[in-house]
Amino acid sequence: MKCRKCGESAVIELRRHNTAYCADDFVAFFRHYTVETIRKWKMFEKEEPILVAVSGGKDSLALWDVLTLEGYRTTGLYLDLGIDEYSKGSRAKCEAFASERGAKLEVIPVIEEVGASIPEVQIATRRPTCSACGLSKRYLTNQAALARGFAVVATGHNLDDEAATLFGSVLRWQEEALSRQSPVLPASSPKLARRVKPLFRLTELETAAYSFLRGIDYIVEECPFSKGATSLHYKEVLNRLEAHAPGTKHAFLLGYLDRIRPAFKRGQEVTLRECIRCGQATTSELCAFCRLVDEVSHKSHTISGPVSAGA
Ligand code: AMP
Ligand code: FES
Ligand code: ZN
Repeated sequence: MKCRKCGESAVIELRRHNTAYCADDFVAFFRHYTVETIRKWKMFEKEEPILVAVSGGKDSLALWDVLTLEGYRTTGLYLDLGIDEYSKGSRAKCEAFASERGAKLEVIPVIEEVGASIPEVQIATRRPTCSACGLSKRYLTNQAALARGFAVVATGHNLDDEAATLFGSVLRWQEEALSRQSPVLPASSPKLARRVKPLFRLTELETAAYSFLRGIDYIVEECPFSKGATSLHYKEVLNRLEAHAPGTKHAFLLGYLDRIRPAFKRGQEVTLRECIRCGQATTSELCAFCRLVDEVSHKSHTISGPVSAGA
């Protein structure tokens, strides 16, 4: 197999584009495709400071790498979820990435904001781990952006993530989730930063290949709580469809965004107000994050109360 650009031997075949590339031309393709996505979807301008949410995984570090190479003004943000070895390992990858490139990285320990680590939140509240974790991540990235004057938060969600989320929302006709699914969520309130996903048209395989070819040292292990997650089954199904008909995932997601989403959006306009405690945007009096913090604090007291009284 030859590289379609230079004729040297190819290291990767992209069946959905009916093409193949050598290492250098694939890296160039990946960078160009990302920059084109940012431009076409009006995600941000060259001079805007961007807060890049990094997990230590291949996608977000690949994104940070591309943005740095392309001359964007970036700061990384890592949320330490307190998930034992997984968090220690992923934090170390982010710190090493930042120090090798002289890039700025902010680290926020979730325990300081929520009052408990993510595994402790699950024990205290009995909520599904990933839902409390997702809520905390959305809230804390937004809070960090506002506090530091960033109008934009960029995340590393890729095509597989986005197509799997859409697939799940369609299977259960979750109208609210469908109306929210977008690679660009505009700041619909002064208390919300814009959220963008510049890698949303690149597959997981492509971000892994990019990270490998660029020598990015990322955490390979998945979060221990993601084992058996429904989204993994959706990804598996979509991969099987993709193997039969390359381009299926892209057509599914982009078709939705271009043609169907506008109809969902019209029916789902919500009025936002400010949380009476923290001031962030919410649809209710107290935002979902402040309710989570209350629940954690209440349950921790109930659990530790009699123990400490007897001690
Ligand atoms: P996930 O929800 O784990 O699939 O991650 C999706 C995106 O959210 C990643 O590509 C990152 O941009 C961001 N993200 C996930 N975990 C963290 C974290 N611990 N700290 C900061 N950003 C994160
Ligand atoms: Fe949030 Fe796994 S990363 S529960
Ligand atoms: Zn609040």
